[in-house]
Amino acid sequence: MKIGMLTSGGDCPGLNAVMRAFAKYAYSHIGNVKIYGFLDGYTGLIENDYEILEEKDFENLLLAGGTMLGSKRQPFKQMTETDGNNRSKLDKMKETYKKLELDCLVTLGGAGTHKTAALLSSEGCNVIGLPKTIDNDIWGTDVTFGFDTAAEVAAECIDRMHSTAASHGRIMLVEVMGNKVGWLTLYAGLAGGADMILIPEIPYDEDAVVEFLEGRRKAGAKYSIVAIAEGALSREEASLRKKERLALRAARGETTVTQRLARNIEARTGVETRTQVIGYLQRGGSPNPHDRVLCTLMGSYAGELAERGKFGVTVAYTGGRVTYNSLSDIAGKTKSVPSSHQMVRAAKSIGVSFGEPEQKN
Ligand code: F6P
Repeated sequence: MKIGMLTSGGDCPGLNAVMRAFAKYAYSHIGNVKIYGFLDGYTGLIENDYEILEEKDFENLLLAGGTMLGSKRQPFKQMTETDGNNRSKLDKMKETYKKLELDCLVTLGGAGTHKTAALLSSEGCNVIGLPKTIDNDIWGTDVTFGFDTAAEVAAECIDRMHSTAASHGRIMLVEVMGNKVGWLTLYAGLAGGADMILIPEIPYDEDAVVEFLEGRRKAGAKYSIVAIAEGALSREEASLRKKERLALRAARGETTVTQRLARNIEARTGVETRTQVIGYLQRGGSPNPHDRVLCTLMGSYAGELAERGKFGVTVAYTGGRVTYNSLSDIAGKTKSVPSSHQMVRAAKSIGVSFGEPEQKN
């Protein structure tokens, strides 16, 4: 069986571990396996740039961070745009697939990767997807690989904020990745004992944020920790379209939501307020034990799907077991945090604020 493999989009811990599990399964259960590793995601497939991988190339990968194939973003909306020769990236990918006579293409990636995977599948390629992302926003799976490790790193960063914030009596805003969803911030914020958690799905009210932080100080708290998602929005911003929101931020000279809110909190409370952006620390390094197990489950399961000739699907983990969804069912959908999610309710029940005005009876 001739199998193409690629990793696309932002990297995360566990990509190598998934490829290792897939390959180990394939070499021991599927006959005559030849694996083509496309370099830098879909770019390799578009440009027919690949390496033939051998069994030994998949050794010592369980703990290895990053991706041995390299990764790049290839925006979905550009996939069907044609060049001067009237050929699109989609055409080129299909040509590579045909030229190499692939039986199957395994794509490890996030939401954007899945949209392209679904497109390739609808155009006749045999695709098996694998849900990668620290954002945990892929529809149809309870969890994506890489998320747990990133949540652990982010939680540890928040842990470390407590002592320094306490020493200086400060308010600390810790910015967590997650793109347009708040899963990572919610998990890390709860695990790190944040006093306030701000996520895109629950737009915050600045007056309520200030009131809550002042209330804590009056009640004797020496410091406060705010876990804030990079995609967090104020209520004012939430009512705007993306373009209008960006224009408003630019007009006000604001770089990030975290900086703006920190500046406003300090001005309004008079309490020294600092920011910490965790950034790419959340994506780098080795997958944690939970992710290593998940990667092994998902990667070997993808191997099983290839063996069974089950294509046009992506691997998922739901209700404690590995399964699959049809690519066409999940592509283009985002799994956001429901505002009534049990974790949100539990956090609120123990006094964590989400920056909403207090409900007065
Ligand atoms: O999708 C993963 C992610 O890390 C997001 O959380 C973040 O918004 C984005 O990628 C950053 O992307 P880049 O690597 O292109 O800076």
